[in-house]
Amino acid sequence: MVITVASFKGGVGKSTSALHLAYLLNQKAPTMLVDTDPNKTATLWARRNDNRGFHVGPATALAKDAQRFQHFVIDTPARPENLDLQSLLEGTDLLLIPTPPASFALDTLQDAHETFREAASPAIRILLTSCPPAPQKDAREAREVLTDLRFRVMNSQIRRAKAFEYAARQGCVVSEVKGDPIAGLAMRDYDATLDEIEEIVESIARTEQGELANVPGN
Ligand SMILES: Nc1ncnc2c1ncn2[C@@H]1O[C@H](COP(=O)(O)OP(=O)(O)OP(=O)(O)O)[C@@H](O)[C@H]1O
Ligand SMILES: [Mg+2]
Repeated sequence: MVITVASFKGGVGKSTSALHLAYLLNQKAPTMLVDTDPNKTATLWARRNDNRGFHVGPATALAKDAQRFQHFVIDTPARPENLDLQSLLEGTDLLLIPTPPASFALDTLQDAHETFREAASPAIRILLTSCPPAPQKDAREAREVLTDLRFRVMNSQIRRAKAFEYAARQGCVVSEVKGDPIAGLAMRDYDATLDEIEEIVESIARTEQGELANVPGN
């Protein structure tokens, strides 16, 4: 499986999502986190801790390393000039766009609405990240706004948790942060996200197979 994590905005949780998904996927089969960000956030994060399990490498290592891995998670740079969803979709099973439920991020998505419409693919999903806890309504309202705009939004969402910042500093995943009662729950958000991603990717594959079967001559 190939998951690409991208956005129209910096600092929205791309690297955090890529790292946690790579960690969880690696528990199922060998996984490479492909760091295409010149800032090398994911590479530097992983270097702080040798026990991460999954492999982190630059895009240039992909051709050489590819056959060793079954899953790939691709982390992309902070502020792309012109995010080309169409080319990111090529070779990707799911394109994940992390977005905090804050107005700055939602405005950016609204601005990019046309780009999404042109790319129209069931393999593009918004993942709400850094969601404040209930009873704050931010996540629910963001979901409504995005759904009204016909964006496909993941049912799973990632809570806002200080533990993610500690994890980044320590070069570990959030569940390994000691003494923070939220850390385990925060990891479960990514567990649920990966389960949902797997369901989406399977469902897209089934649809494509069905379409192929209906093509005369097959
Ligand atoms: N769910 C969360 N709750 C709280 N803080 C978070 C959460 N997810 C990420 N963060 C923090 O937000 C900051 C930005 O996260 P991250 O580096 O993953 O974003 P990014 O989109 O990759 O940024 P860039 O565009 O610079 O590459 C980091 O300090 C990270 O620890
Ligand atoms: Mg990043």
